[in-house]
Order: sequence, then C-alpha cells, then structure tokens
Amino acid sequence: MLSIVGAKHSDVGAVAISRMYFPNEVFKRPWWWRANRAYIRRKAVRGLATEIRTSRARSPEEVIDPRKALQFVWLPDAQAIHFYDHHEAHALPALFYTDWDSALLVTADGAGDNVSYSHRHFKDGKLLTVNTWHRRLPPGGIAHLYQAVTGALGFRENRHEGKITGLAAFGKPVLYDEIVSHFWVTDEGLIRSKFRRTATLFNYIRQVAPRVKRKTPRHLCKRLSRI
Ligand SMILES: [Fe+2]
Repeated sequence: MLSIVGAKHSDVGAVAISRMYFPNEVFKRPWWWRANRAYIRRKAVRGLATEIRTSRARSPEEVIDPRKALQFVWLPDAQAIHFYDHHEAHALPALFYTDWDSALLVTADGAGDNVSYSHRHFKDGKLLTVNTWHRRLPPGGIAHLYQAVTGALGFRENRHEGKITGLAAFGKPVLYDEIVSHFWVTDEGLIRSKFRRTATLFNYIRQVAPRVKRKTPRHLCKRLSRI
C-alpha cells in the first residue's frame, strides 16, 4: 500500500485503524487474567471492539497496548495510533455534506465492530452516541441484501459492496420498487425483511439480478473486481 504512493514505513507519522482483531499479546491484561490464563478460553486473536465492550472500557487504550499494536501492523516507528469506531466512521461522511448544527445520525450495517445499528446526536459541535445495537442481524437484513446484490452482479461479496453503492449513482432504479417491497423499518429504526432465511434472500436476488445485469458494463465489473 505504501509503495503505491512512494512512501516508506518511516514516513508514517500516525495510524488510524479499525477496532479489528488483534493477537492476544497486544492486549493489556489485569493480574487476575494473567493468573488464570490457563483456564481462559484460548483464542489466537481477539476483537478490540468486543474487548472494549465486555470490559466496559471508556477508550481502546484501556485494553490495548498502542505500541504493541503499531508493531503488529508493521509500523513501530509511527508516533500515534487511533482506533476509530466503525459506525462513527460511517456516520461522519453524511454529516460532512451538510451545514446542519444539529442532526440525528443513524447507521445500519452488517456487524462492523460487532454493532449492527447506531444512533448518534450531533449538537453544539459534539457527537453523542445515543444507542448501539450489538445483537446479531436477523437473517435477510439490509447488509445481507448488499452482499447478495454484490455477488449477483459479478463482484466479490464482503469486499466490493462500496463499489456497488458508487456505481448505483450511474444507474436507474429499475428494481427499486420490487426489492424495497420486501423490507420495512420498525419503530425502533431497525430494518426487517420478509425473508426468513438468508439463503432465501440470496436466491431471490439471484432471480431478479439478470433483469439489470445485462445493463451493467461488463468490462467495468471485471476491472473493478480485480482491485
Ligand atoms: Fe460497515
């Protein structure tokens, strides 16, 4: 990645990274954890987002050693590391394109940082997290729809969903009414669908996709899929 912009490891001053999975050694452990580690379920890696939540930490630095984390990402000389919140990162770009001084920011995702939905309130220049939903998405949720469409159009699932979103701006909403009729939003703000099983949703999308697939520029799909 660095070579693309002609940079070296030593050129990196600060790192912003997701609350992803890190090896056990990178986490700070209390004395009782170290004393009982033989009895604690062995896992090679642990998710930072989960560790923060289960230990009720107020910041990532309470549970992870920033220096060791920088070593793990092969950037030991960087001066600082910041562990960004997945849903906050989703929410902020929407806010940047407004001039509002008060806003409710709602995100709906698969399970980034093990969170499926979040509500944040922006006011007086500050962003307050109102609520997050850690529960697993029910089968057939909106994130599975993104995944199904990505695969059905010839892209790689769990990787190219962002490209599908970008390309959608160049297309026409041919299937919008058809697809959206299977989804609704609950009073809590959660998205639900008629599909009882994820496989049923994927089959449905595979059935309807050929109606728009012909219009997808094939050479563009191929080129973008390689990235
Ligand atoms: Fe996400």
